[in-house]
Amino acid sequence: MCGIVGYTGAKSATPILLEGLRRLEYRGYDSAGIAVLSEAGDLHVRKAAGKLENLRSAVATLEPAGSVGIGHTRWATHGRPNDDNAHPHSDCSGDVTVVHNGIIENYAELRDELSARGHVFKSETDTEVLAHLLEDLLPHATSLGEAVRSALARVSGSYAIAVVSRHFPGHIAGARLNGPLIVGLGENENFIASDIPAILRHTREIIVLEEGEVADVGQHKVVITDLAGKPISRAPMHVDWDPEAAEKGGHPFFYVKEIVEQPQSLRRALLGRVQDEAGKLTLKLDALDHLAASGALDGIRRITLLGCGSSVHAALLAKYAFERWARVPVEVCIASEYRYADPIVGPDTLVIAVAQSGETADTLAATRLAREHGAPIVAVTNVVGSAITRVADAVLYLQAGPEISVTATKTFVTTTTVLYMAGLWLAKHLGALHDAEMRAELTALLAIPDQMEQVIDRYVLPDGAEGPLEAVADRLAKSQSCLFIGRGPACVVALEGALKLKELSYVHAEAYAAGELKHGPIALLDPQTPLVAIATAGRTYEKVISNVEEVLARGAPVIAVATDGDREIGRHASHVMTVPAAPETFEPLLAVIPLQVLAYHVATRRGCDIDQPRNLAKSVTVE
Ligand code: G6P
Repeated sequence: MCGIVGYTGAKSATPILLEGLRRLEYRGYDSAGIAVLSEAGDLHVRKAAGKLENLRSAVATLEPAGSVGIGHTRWATHGRPNDDNAHPHSDCSGDVTVVHNGIIENYAELRDELSARGHVFKSETDTEVLAHLLEDLLPHATSLGEAVRSALARVSGSYAIAVVSRHFPGHIAGARLNGPLIVGLGENENFIASDIPAILRHTREIIVLEEGEVADVGQHKVVITDLAGKPISRAPMHVDWDPEAAEKGGHPFFYVKEIVEQPQSLRRALLGRVQDEAGKLTLKLDALDHLAASGALDGIRRITLLGCGSSVHAALLAKYAFERWARVPVEVCIASEYRYADPIVGPDTLVIAVAQSGETADTLAATRLAREHGAPIVAVTNVVGSAITRVADAVLYLQAGPEISVTATKTFVTTTTVLYMAGLWLAKHLGALHDAEMRAELTALLAIPDQMEQVIDRYVLPDGAEGPLEAVADRLAKSQSCLFIGRGPACVVALEGALKLKELSYVHAEAYAAGELKHGPIALLDPQTPLVAIATAGRTYEKVISNVEEVLARGAPVIAVATDGDREIGRHASHVMTVPAAPETFEPLLAVIPLQVLAYHVATRRGCDIDQPRNLAKSVTVE
């Protein structure tokens, strides 16, 4: 949700900023802009509504020269996505420009105060107040960092910002409070960015700013302080991501690349956690071992999983597994609802906060609330040092590598897998699973990456050909609406499959527990409204088939996801996608893949933007 990049060094800033923004576009793509400080000390601002391409065209005709600058890609909150509301925002004099991710809650009051002092506002954004506050402060400040601290002392809300000013040439400043920001350290150059991929080409030495920190970044020196000005010293961390990981690697879209990467992501998540010790499989989760050693889990009587979007779907899958293996009651809450539901939570509730980005505002707020009530917190995230890790007592990282496409694929299956491992660990900790049962589950889990590869080979064809999905994609692309059903864990596959279809192709799709169909949704079905049934082998297979029959009796076309070897399903469904057999708990990791691929082919037919669907952003840092 809004991407920020900043550069100071000896090179031309504009290409570096544009390249950084390209890699941050997944965070928002309503508008983009840059501000570059020239050698002569002038600030040149270029911005354009719409995708980064529009900014590129604007810059191509007149490229701002200079080796210091900041850039922004926006997901609109306050103010429509037009040129005026695009960041960077400037003060009255053109002395300073600001880019911002977040919301300044007291902006209306500050705007009135600044207007009364004669400041003239040019946009409808909350961000612009920062530029005008800085305009008054900069002439009296001894450093850019000091001016930024003084301005931030006046604002409440959430932010990650970057600032460049004519008063302090050679410097950029960044600050964060509930929005991500990192500083990248290069040779004779330094960077600010919302996320690592934006600067990975230039450096792998990263300092992750913590909440309430301000960085004054010069070409050769970085000074970090807290908001009160107290100096902070922190060693950089080395990022060992392969820069190729943030490239499409020959695939037409990140979405496709990330589907293909799923087996590899799972293997990485399992690596070092599920181990073969002298022929015996064991599970080791150091973070949970340490948490248990601290005594924090001694009084646990229930588990609450919090998340949004696909992360909440992963949590729903975990609920089935946790309850089956550990026999503890588990509730799954949509984070934005939890906060205002007066939840029953305390030291006897283990709260597992699930957010691949680690920065979803709703999940962060819900987790903080649980923490205030004394609950031990485990975070499950893909992003090292992200905000969710700061409110957690233990962190389980996905180790999935960067996910760039806005629509989650590999992080969904990896989150689910990491949660499965946590469930098995808890079952062991609580003495609820015998060693032999544990080994059987681990053996089945370890087989999943290879089985995923079989599914990918079936449905993601090398030259982008559609093979078995062509007819079904044609059918869905012409539909206005469709329903997905499943029972048990397969119901969660239905939820995730429907989410992929609506996110990518804008076809209206809803998922229901198959048994609920007859209690209302069946009224929606007609020959133009297909039903996608997750009818994989398992305890409820026959029941799902009965529900499918009810649908066929109403003339709606049926598409099914089934298990290899199912000879019956062809009699009920006009289109069948098959996956290898796996235990019911793990089958969703396979069954979701044809639905991910199907959503892609439907979206392609409808001319949709695959990696950047309309109105969405990958990490949503506002509530
Ligand atoms: C956004 C994305 C979804 C994602 C959700 C939660 O809405 O578009 O794909 O599932 O955020 O993200 P998180 O980072 O909290 O897992």
